[in-house]
Amino acid sequence: MAERKFTEKDLQLFRLAKKAAENAYAPFSDYKVGAALLGTDGQVYTGCNVENSSYGGTICAERTAAVKAVSEGCKTFEALAVTSLSGEASPCGICRQFLYEFAPDLRIITGAGEENLNVTTLRELLPGGFRLEAEGAKE
Ligand code: THU
Repeated sequence: MAERKFTEKDLQLFRLAKKAAENAYAPFSDYKVGAALLGTDGQVYTGCNVENSSYGGTICAERTAAVKAVSEGCKTFEALAVTSLSGEASPCGICRQFLYEFAPDLRIITGAGEENLNVTTLRELLPGGFRLEAEGAKE
């Protein structure tokens, strides 16, 4: 995987992800994840994982952030930071697919702590990603 240098903007996004993880509702896994998604509107949409007694109802931090953004009118994204309170977190397969819908070239920042960040792209994490070219979907 290509290694990219992280920027000050990446670091700021990472800090917001770490902070968002504190709001996680994770009584079943005790794995608290936070995400911060930078929209092309300049806004940062944060999210945490929200678990459910019916386990399949759980939503990951990344999708929480994406759903918040889309519901606020932002459908295009530049970068996403994701982390957990217990170490590094990497977007799960469902989240990779979910984000690919809106931003195949999304910059993704991961890491356990701010002294050691990894930067990659969604295309690298989801090679050959699937997306229907639906009319109006990519506005
Ligand atoms: N989780 C996330 O929120 N994001 C990820 O990238 C990996 C998994 C959550 C879902 C669940 O609440 C917990 O971590 C354990 O899978």
